[in-house]
Amino acid sequence: MKNRVAVIGAGNVGASAALYIAERGLADVTLIDIVEGLPQGKALDILQATPLWHRGGRVEGSNDLGAVAGADVVVMTAGFPRKPGMSRTDLLKANADIVRPAAEAVKRGAPGAYVVVVTNPLDVMAHLFWKVTGFPRARVAGMAGILDSARFRAFLAAELGVSGTDVQAMVLGGHGDSMVPLPRYTTVGGIPITELLPQGRIAEIAQRTRDGGAEIVKLLKTGSAYYAPAMSAVEMVEAILTDQKRLVPCSALLQGEYGMKDLFLGVPVILGARGVEKIVELELSGDELAALRASGKQVIDSIAELAVGV
Ligand code: NAI
Ligand code: 2OP
Repeated sequence: MKNRVAVIGAGNVGASAALYIAERGLADVTLIDIVEGLPQGKALDILQATPLWHRGGRVEGSNDLGAVAGADVVVMTAGFPRKPGMSRTDLLKANADIVRPAAEAVKRGAPGAYVVVVTNPLDVMAHLFWKVTGFPRARVAGMAGILDSARFRAFLAAELGVSGTDVQAMVLGGHGDSMVPLPRYTTVGGIPITELLPQGRIAEIAQRTRDGGAEIVKLLKTGSAYYAPAMSAVEMVEAILTDQKRLVPCSALLQGEYGMKDLFLGVPVILGARGVEKIVELELSGDELAALRASGKQVIDSIAELAVGV
């Protein structure tokens, strides 16, 4: 039987994720949103494109969170992006109110599902989703590290005039200003980046990566990035559905790894049919570990602010 992915939120990220899943023929897709007609309309539009991709399969829309029933994977994208005048706390509370009922619906209707959380603030919303569902940590992961690494890879590829395919990079930490790009683990066709670019230039590109989301918000003015975020989430969906055992950075629940406990944070994981099958612990330098812990501290503070519990 064909796999089914439920995408909660049919906005920019959710609809793009549905599009990429259908285009690749990865699974049947159900798009869910509170706005009447929106998920149905976008689903119908994507369905009508499937013959042009030489694909079959079902693409459906619903306004009912109950439509998650039976999904193998759930992608959680419903939520507000940060708007001007909105504090971090405002966003935290507003999106927690959206994530909670969605997680309850998944717990009820899709108790065996794997969950990819996209809604911001990412690491805290992944924590909340995990907490509400009570799922094992292997079945809830947040999408951020693949996106942040893809941004780093794209900027490095442009700088060096090479294909981004050949740039491998690892960006860890929380999804925000405190993310931790790791030049030491960044290579181009197997060659360490430190042999190809001066330290100062690498630092500038790492900073542009940290600001990668904000740069797009500034240009778009009315929203935030969605093509690369959606594709990053779909990479995770594909790794799970096709048991790829990808070694990629995802936000995962730490239970002692990297000396931290009871928080979701971007770390390298192995992603396959059993979800987050393993958290890979790298030998970080003192500075790298300090940066990762500082990033973790911000996530812990937000969890406390929301009183989610651990
Ligand atoms: P959007 O505004 O285009 O779409 C959000 C959708 O959620 C809207 O269609 C809205 O109707 C829907 N929605 C709101 N409340 C809902 C509910 N209770 N049930 C079902 N649907 C509901 O926003 P966009 O650009 O798709 O971003 C979505 C979220 O993803 C934001 O929180 C954004 O910050 C986050 N994001 C995270 C990234 C990451 O790297 N983790 C990257 C890009 C976006
Ligand atoms: C991004 O990094 C807004 O989190 C989103 O583009």
